[in-house]
Amino acid sequence: MRKESETTLRFEALNKFIDQSRPLHDTQSLLMGTLHYTQELFGYIPRQAIEFISESLKVPTAHIYGMVTFYNYFSLKPRPQYQIHVCKGTACYVSGGARVLERLKQELKIEIGEVSDDGLFGLSVTRCLGCCGLAPVMQINEDVYVRVVPEKVPTIIATYRKKKLSKKMPVAVGEFEHPGKSE
Ligand code: FES
Repeated sequence: MRKESETTLRFEALNKFIDQSRPLHDTQSLLMGTLHYTQELFGYIPRQAIEFISESLKVPTAHIYGMVTFYNYFSLKPRPQYQIHVCKGTACYVSGGARVLERLKQELKIEIGEVSDDGLFGLSVTRCLGCCGLAPVMQINEDVYVRVVPEKVPTIIATYRKKKLSKKMPVAVGEFEHPGKSE
């Protein structure tokens, strides 16, 4: 049985998607559908995928980049599973928000704007999150944490690491039917 790399399998799946969708759509709809599929498949839109789609659909790469950057749903870089927003508004700042931020950087070994090596966490700062009376505040995806102290940061992060372990990945390579697959 031949062993495929994960990337090869994903490109084969993309190719198959385009082949199956082509008879059903005009080029613009096909392009939009293909970009959605690519975002799901890879978790972002890699440059190589844009070149592949451009060649398959005979659409200039500049047009594809235009669409990818126009719609928020698409991303040219891998997105972390959990985006952490630390409030840097005045109330949070004077209540120790900066120390929380430093503890997060230390725990995740990243700076603001970066993604952790495991792809799980992204770190960013934000303006007032609207609950200044409960400062300092941070948000992880939809979850808001109030009166955060630096000592709590490792426990909070550990919770999300555990969630990841029990969560099924949205795209598992083994689920793809691909042309070279043998029983
Ligand atoms: S300043 Fe942080 S919630 Fe308002």
